[in-house]
Amino acid sequence: MITLDFTNIMQEAIGPEGLKPEDIDALKEQIKDVHREISGTKWPAFAFLDLPYQDLSELSKIGEDIRKTSEYFMLLGIGGSALGPKALLDSLKPFYNLKHTPKIFIYDNVDPDTLTSILSIIDLRKTTVNVITKSGSTVETMASFLILMDRLKKANKENYKHWIVATTDPEKGILREVAREEGFRTLSIHPDVVGRYSVLSPVGLLPAAIAGIDVKGLLDGAKDMLEKCKAEDPWKNPAYMAGALMYLMGQQKGKSISVLLPYSDRLKSFSEWYCQLWAESLGKEGLGQTPYPSIGTTDQHSQLQLWMEGPKDKVITFIRVESSSDDITIPDKDIPALSYLKGHSLGGLIKAEQEATELCLTKAKRPNMRITIPRVDAYYLGQMFLFFELVTAFTGLLYRVNPFNQPGVEEGKNLTYGILGREGYEDKRREAVMYKGKMQNLKYKI
Ligand code: PA5
Repeated sequence: MITLDFTNIMQEAIGPEGLKPEDIDALKEQIKDVHREISGTKWPAFAFLDLPYQDLSELSKIGEDIRKTSEYFMLLGIGGSALGPKALLDSLKPFYNLKHTPKIFIYDNVDPDTLTSILSIIDLRKTTVNVITKSGSTVETMASFLILMDRLKKANKENYKHWIVATTDPEKGILREVAREEGFRTLSIHPDVVGRYSVLSPVGLLPAAIAGIDVKGLLDGAKDMLEKCKAEDPWKNPAYMAGALMYLMGQQKGKSISVLLPYSDRLKSFSEWYCQLWAESLGKEGLGQTPYPSIGTTDQHSQLQLWMEGPKDKVITFIRVESSSDDITIPDKDIPALSYLKGHSLGGLIKAEQEATELCLTKAKRPNMRITIPRVDAYYLGQMFLFFELVTAFTGLLYRVNPFNQPGVEEGKNLTYGILGREGYEDKRREAVMYKGKMQNLKYKI
């Protein structure tokens, strides 16, 4: 069972920096409204809550075929179309490429050095390319896809189509059009599901299936979490409670930074996935919280000093893993100064360090809470994805912002299209040219 312990975010533990139960109760009417919105039809993007019930037959068929035929699997996508798959693979199949095939590469940024390195490793005659873009037009993904399609054609002649799977909107977008014309295999992302909420759609599930992850377990976990987060009362709904606490921390206690601190290497990419979710969903109209992806114990030796004695602007969420799949005992080597380690294991050590850090922060009156998961497996990861998605959407609605749009991201995309001369973006081009003309030359030449 997953637990959420928020003792150390309360006034009783940390004094005036913390919250009182009455602060949470005072949100009752707001939460009632948000609950109504979540259960109603106002926000079609809550379609992500239906993903645990999707039909997996087509995905399983394609996944099975790729596993049999491919030595390499290359995923092209960015943002929600890459961070979710990465979190899944790193959490459940760490070091996968060293032991298994098809070897999986996720190419998100358009850095030519990275692509050159990947191309020098893979054999395009045996590589399936999975291009993922919900909008079907994101410049990074489509530019990489044009390159890969061209290379695949050269490597596989007429048969190249077999080596491409497009994951995109069922109807709209350039990628859907190209896939129709060319006859690629496709998987659909539900039209209402937004990129950063899409990890449990074919976006994450195809790469998961290819890596041999228990896809059904993931969805079962998500389903069970959904069941636990149905009540309107935050004292009976852990997702609403977590969201309400983060909202109050931001709005009433000036905590503008949310640090996610898993004590597990496997969850490092999960932390990065969370950062996109939290930043893009809430950062609007002058509101939101800056997410910071962290990792214990490593960041104890990098960030903890700042968290304890620096600006009082952070709330820290620990993720503690109760048991590792394979724990390792520390051997007793008869060195008196190290005898305190006798009988301990690395799993025990990492838990002791988490406990110590929690105590340090609490003593320093810095708000923190702890999510404990029994282990990192498909079932509990499915629970965690669903939990964090629901917390985020709920918190966005408490802030009264739209947690499903990303106008800032779109503006970046549109200006890039303008600069590159895409038809229909002439005004963006003009804006970019004017900006360049106005830029002051306050620069050093070093
Ligand atoms: O959450 C979002 O919608 C965005 O961050 C997208 O994931 C990102 O911009 C990539 O978009 P797309 O999947 O349409 O290529």
